[in-house]
Amino acid sequence: MNLQRRKFDALIVGAGGAGLRAALQLADAEASVAVVSKVFPTRSHTVAAQGGVNAALANVLPDNWHWHMYDTVKGSDWLGDQDAIEYMCQVAPRVVYELEHFGVPFSRLDNGNIYQRAFGGQSQNFGGAQAARTCAAADRTGHAILHTLYQQNIRAKTHFFDEYFAVDLIKDDHGYVLGCLAFEILTGEPILIEAKTTLLATGGVGQLYRTCTNALINTGDGMAMALRAGVPLQDMEFFQFHPTGIAGRGMLITEGARGEGGYLTNESGERFMERYAPNAKDLASRDVVSRAIYLEVKEGRGCGKDRDHVYLNLMHLGEDVIKKRLPGIRETSIIFTGIDPVEKPIPIYPTAHYVMGGIPTNRFGQVVVPVKDTPEEPVLGLYAAGECACVSVHGANRLGGNSLLDILVFGRAAAEHMIDYVRENNFHRPLNQDSLDAALARFTRWDRKDGGEPVDDVRRDLRKAMEDHCGVFRTEEVMSEGVQKIKQIAERVKYATLRDHSRTFNTARVEALETENLIDCALATITSALGRQESRGAHSRVDHPDRDDVNWLKHSLYFLQSDTLDYKPVRTKPLTVDTIPPKVRVY
Ligand code: FUM
Repeated sequence: MNLQRRKFDALIVGAGGAGLRAALQLADAEASVAVVSKVFPTRSHTVAAQGGVNAALANVLPDNWHWHMYDTVKGSDWLGDQDAIEYMCQVAPRVVYELEHFGVPFSRLDNGNIYQRAFGGQSQNFGGAQAARTCAAADRTGHAILHTLYQQNIRAKTHFFDEYFAVDLIKDDHGYVLGCLAFEILTGEPILIEAKTTLLATGGVGQLYRTCTNALINTGDGMAMALRAGVPLQDMEFFQFHPTGIAGRGMLITEGARGEGGYLTNESGERFMERYAPNAKDLASRDVVSRAIYLEVKEGRGCGKDRDHVYLNLMHLGEDVIKKRLPGIRETSIIFTGIDPVEKPIPIYPTAHYVMGGIPTNRFGQVVVPVKDTPEEPVLGLYAAGECACVSVHGANRLGGNSLLDILVFGRAAAEHMIDYVRENNFHRPLNQDSLDAALARFTRWDRKDGGEPVDDVRRDLRKAMEDHCGVFRTEEVMSEGVQKIKQIAERVKYATLRDHSRTFNTARVEALETENLIDCALATITSALGRQESRGAHSRVDHPDRDDVNWLKHSLYFLQSDTLDYKPVRTKPLTVDTIPPKVRVY
């Protein structure tokens, strides 16, 4: 096989906000940077982020980063690491002003300052009145950020491998990560990209579920690459269901719609969130609002002929506000439901949205794993940032608007650390041939032409199994059955083939590799969920309904090779301020 080889200081896998923010930092420091992306960079999923990015700018209401930190710790149901949360909230205004200077076209207040809207779980003064902390470019904030970062990277001369698929990480004999094997989707030609340091920034894994807000590309590729390289995944049981997806379809209707004053009603027109969250109401944390909607529907108070959804009401905001602040979701609603929210409420239902867990990192973006008796040690040369990583700032439940913030803060922090790493490790190490051979074997395995069921059938069954067995409300019985089903699916994929091999394009090979990645992530998710015998944040166990800080205030770690779980302590000590101790979480 003809194997092309290229060498760079830094390799970034993934061209969403985390990858592009990191690439820009590295390129501006004159490192040679390669970005591998399976889609054209501006099609990465950051483009779909709607409502905005949190930073305590205090442009609309009083605010400061201490309140932001408190809200984030409470939102995480105390599972977030407080050192990383402090760092993120403190640096947030700086990364937003950097974006402004890069050219992001934020919406503006009359005085010219960046527009900020209210989002769920935000408060003033440590749990007091609603705050307005989410900096927005109408309801297309991710689009504005991603395109700006891409343009800045073109200026900075970042090297892009567009429409290349990363197969697996490559290491040396001592465990240093030295880049990856990838292939060009157009030609099917493999390429070895060697790098002194590698950042995984491949985004989330929403395609685990049939109904989700995520793009088809969100298949957990980086997480699965890490698992296969011996890195565990952390806190994968915590999967966020966004309260307002279009009913039956799953597309996102931004929380910003409620931030602008929208509210939810059931079939009798009751504003039911007043019963579940008397203070924050419709702007309670996402896990709380999603569970409330499920219960309204389950208890027979749903809307429509099948009583299977609730309504999001925006009509009272008026046409001008909807067109100015929420043009994208108006368009989405008209296209996918035929309903103009200026005139009628939008039918909505919770939809899989975001994984709080991922590749364990410290606040410098270094991937860290437990080694013998030490709490954790870095995997040399390997970094992760964004949704594929777990730093952990979101703990058991992420606040809306903290995801764009996470990718910017930790994409930038990882790059800063990588710049130092490249200075100290300024040579290419010889790679381990077995590691390359294993990656090549994974790539060529899908050349086989005979036997087997089509791999897309396997993917379909996987997504249904996850929806049926690892959804919003969970029990030991339902999840144990799910583990067995997913293990059977993992066996089936070993014998599956591409559909109609003679006529398929290389995208079929991509989908097969993605399906393997999804299966690895599904095993991590459901095994971790079965292991955690408490309810915390987005993980809601009917058979263990209470949070249990005595036994479960700890992070889970799932290891693929041994199919086992381990646990590590939450970092409850912030960097400079006092710990925010656990208390009852009410909104
Ligand atoms: O509702 C939204 O606009 C989503 C934002 C987020 O997930 O942070």
